[in-house]
Amino acid sequence: MTDRIGCATLRARVTDADAAAGLIRPGETIAASGFTGSGYPKAVPQALAQRMAAEGAAGRPFRVNLWTGASTGPELDGALAAVDGVAQRLPYSSDPVAREKINRGEIDYLDMHLSQVAPMAWEGVLGTLDTAIIEVIGVRADGSLIPSSSVGNNKTWLDRAKRVILEVNRWQNPALEGMHDIYYGTRLPPERVPIPLVRPDDRIGSAYFACDPDKVIAVVETDAPDRNLPFAAPDDTARAIAGHIIEFLAHEVSRGRLPPELLPIQSGVGNIANAVLSGLIDAPFEPMTAYTEVIQDGMIDLLDAGKLRMASATAFSLSPQAATRLNADMSAYRNRMILRPQEMSNHPEIVRRLGCIAMNGLIEADIYGNVNSTLVMGSRIQNGIGGSGDFARNAYVSIFMTPSTAKGGKISAIVPQVSHVDHIMQDVQVIVTEQGLADLRGLSPRQRAKLVIERCAHPDYRSLLRDYAVRAHGGSYGLHAPSLPGEALSWHRRFMETGTMLPA
Ligand code: COA
Repeated sequence: MTDRIGCATLRARVTDADAAAGLIRPGETIAASGFTGSGYPKAVPQALAQRMAAEGAAGRPFRVNLWTGASTGPELDGALAAVDGVAQRLPYSSDPVAREKINRGEIDYLDMHLSQVAPMAWEGVLGTLDTAIIEVIGVRADGSLIPSSSVGNNKTWLDRAKRVILEVNRWQNPALEGMHDIYYGTRLPPERVPIPLVRPDDRIGSAYFACDPDKVIAVVETDAPDRNLPFAAPDDTARAIAGHIIEFLAHEVSRGRLPPELLPIQSGVGNIANAVLSGLIDAPFEPMTAYTEVIQDGMIDLLDAGKLRMASATAFSLSPQAATRLNADMSAYRNRMILRPQEMSNHPEIVRRLGCIAMNGLIEADIYGNVNSTLVMGSRIQNGIGGSGDFARNAYVSIFMTPSTAKGGKISAIVPQVSHVDHIMQDVQVIVTEQGLADLRGLSPRQRAKLVIERCAHPDYRSLLRDYAVRAHGGSYGLHAPSLPGEALSWHRRFMETGTMLPA
């Protein structure tokens, strides 16, 4: 088994998952690899969860703080949350078990911009990091590490942690070697310098992680698949949203505001984002590039169809079927994909320089274009802001998309006022639902309201929104972005009291 561990010092530290988990102490801060369902450690967290359960049953609560790149798989987030093993979690989670515990106030969740995690860890404001648990696909003779199917914050975790546990996963395709670009030039101010990346396909770093072998306390060999959920097949709603976006992009090309091959695309997480990518297959733009956070199924389709020249990201986020497809032919994709640390994939400087076209999902938007991406009814976390803020504020054009209603029509995604703001209206340039697209660039708040209501709201809610806007705009106090304070959140209150935003 040890053929993937080329370094004799580290080969001597091979042990099993139980022994490795035994080296972690209660109260530690642990940083793990992982970004969406890829490249996260699979064996040690499950062994740790068993230990936590046993200690808990004996009346000795065993909890850790858990830092990662973003969401991970059930063997990590789900397993530790299920045994009440997580005290604090950052920077992003989409695990259903963890979500319930966060919403019950049992886990302290720090929902952070993903580009800011590594710099803040370096600044020291997050506290000290005890143990990093990092999945790699191999160890080279000099002790450097071959990254896995996600990069995330691993560079920073390996540098900052006092101790390191490695999982060497032979399920991962060895042909991944060479796909990564690990930039070691980041500094804190005042030593910070420009990042020398001017095209999405620039390589500016190393294909490997540096790691001090003296810090490695255990190496565990695994053979375990990444786990992502399959995407829902695009339905009529998703196809309509994709159609509106493609029409908008074609219009921008025809006006000379975008080149025929577009600017690098960024696509957010979720089914709608994936459906838009699928829709781009039949669009006239080529050869496109992507500078984004995750490579989803739709991007593999675009690469296969020759529409996408290359994709830069920090991780794969593939359905099991797409992962199998990629794995079967990895060397053919290797030169057309680059995986980078998330502080690079999401870096505001680079997103602004490249002029990314940002496309992200939302929970709700208000008539002025303020967007809530995270908190249902202003208080229940869905996932987190993820990279949406990194891209939205700095993109060439920032698009937010959603079905016009949720929960079978009982909730309108377009509301008088959002119950929580993640993206202020200045960061939101286009809103799209299956009903239509509102291009809000160059419009004042009152002009925006008209367009959002007429183009994006579901017909069941449109006249209610019109009525609200007319009354708010007819007031005499602050007519720049008028609101009716007592009424602005009454739709949310009505939903919580009656189970629908529609009046009786
Ligand atoms: N009120 C209540 N629930 C809502 C809602 C609303 N206004 N809008 C959506 N939801 C619920 C849906 O009902 C669904 O719940 P379910 O899983 O119980 O069925 C869930 O949120 C996901 O919604 P869906 O319509 O399937 O959209 P999606 O998969 O495209 O995800 C977000 C939408 C907003 C949750 C997702 O895009 C997200 O987490 N965004 C923030 C992070 C981000 O943008 N990352 C990308 C940066 S690179």
